[in-house]
Amino acid sequence: MEARFGKIAFIETFPESLPLIIVKKRFKWILTIMVAVFALMQLTNLGRSNPPVAPGHDLFSTNPPPPEIAALLRTACYDCHSYETRWPWYGHVAPVTWWLDSHVRDARARLNFSEWPHGDPQKAAKKWNYVSDSVRDGDMPLPSYAQIHKAARLTEQQRNALSGWAAQEAERLKATLAVAP
Ligand code: HEC
Repeated sequence: MEARFGKIAFIETFPESLPLIIVKKRFKWILTIMVAVFALMQLTNLGRSNPPVAPGHDLFSTNPPPPEIAALLRTACYDCHSYETRWPWYGHVAPVTWWLDSHVRDARARLNFSEWPHGDPQKAAKKWNYVSDSVRDGDMPLPSYAQIHKAARLTEQQRNALSGWAAQEAERLKATLAVAP
């Protein structure tokens, strides 16, 4: 009993133990450094740009897809696969911006509706086949994107419509190729 009382009395003379005081002091520094690093990260003003769409280069400039397909492409694909990205506000905050920027750069490099190969039906057909496969398999739009953007979540019916139309468009383009001199 006496020993216990003695222990409590001892603790009360040091309401804050020495190690705790050190951590608390350091915490201010750690927080300051974290805030500073976060602020510095914002200076890495990467990409996030929407280059201008050259006239006649966009998918919709010539022979556009039917309206219901066009609407699906616009809502579910254009944020990544075009120069008409609608950057969200949090897309301007590092490190989120790095992540989004790399997605959009990757996506544009592989498939860019703003640089559509109108003059190369063979290439365009290949792209529509890729689109058809990726949408049918549920790989596109990227699941992480669809989670955040409700409008981009495709229903079974929308998936079938887009995938089916893309496959059909690929066939149509290949047929024009066979006929061409
Ligand atoms: C959030 C961004 C994002 C959205 C939205 C998105 N994609 Fe993608 N897409 C990517 C990225 C990143 C890649 C490249 C890496 C990969 O294949 O996973 C890609 C790759 C592709 C490819 C492969 C191209 C190739 O040559 O290999 C196709 C096809 C594709 N996407 C179609 C679509 C279609 C169709 C939609 C809309 C239904 C869509 N994507 C929506 C980010 C996106």
